[in-house]
Amino acid sequence: MPDERMRVERADITKLAVDAVVNAANQSLRGGGGVDGAIHYNAGPKLLQACIEIGSCPRGEARITPGFDLPARYVIHTVGPAWHGGDRGEAELLAKCYRNSFALAVDHGVRSIAFPAISCGAFSYPVLPATEIAVREVRAFLETDTSVDCVTFACREKSIVAAYKKILAR
Ligand code: AR6
Repeated sequence: MPDERMRVERADITKLAVDAVVNAANQSLRGGGGVDGAIHYNAGPKLLQACIEIGSCPRGEARITPGFDLPARYVIHTVGPAWHGGDRGEAELLAKCYRNSFALAVDHGVRSIAFPAISCGAFSYPVLPATEIAVREVRAFLETDTSVDCVTFACREKSIVAAYKKILAR
């Protein structure tokens, strides 16, 4: 059944005025390309400083920083799996990114959160299974949580918006 707390938007995640945006980072937390580059560029240099203080982040885990110059109050940095064909634990690692991001969100009183399509860019995770995992994990979280009232899937590509819409309609 569609959950009204989930929505999909074709949007630049760095422009969203939500409590937290999730960053699809890499283990070094030193920035990179894609959404990571856009978040660092728009949050300003203090974000990199905060990430350096944290150190690194293993795949599947998450770390939180302020959003600095972003409209979002927080950035939750999570490191998705790189796709190697599907038999190296990619699905479980991707699911853990969503679970660990929500754990931090709840700890910090986040009520609205936006996720990019973690691992669907440079990390080459096939879009349909990745979006299925994302929706499954968000649904499972919302089933028991009462603190988060809006989860946005923010996508740059039309084709990814379409994948989410198809799954959300199921
Ligand atoms: N807003 C929303 N979505 C975006 C934005 C944006 N501003 N920019 C890109 N996307 P990727 P990954 C989409 O590559 O696959 C980085 O270099 C993008 O079109 O950002 O997890 C990191 O440092 C795609 O659909 O993340 C890591 O090394 C999705 O976000 C590595 O890439 C994710 O693409 C992480 O790779």
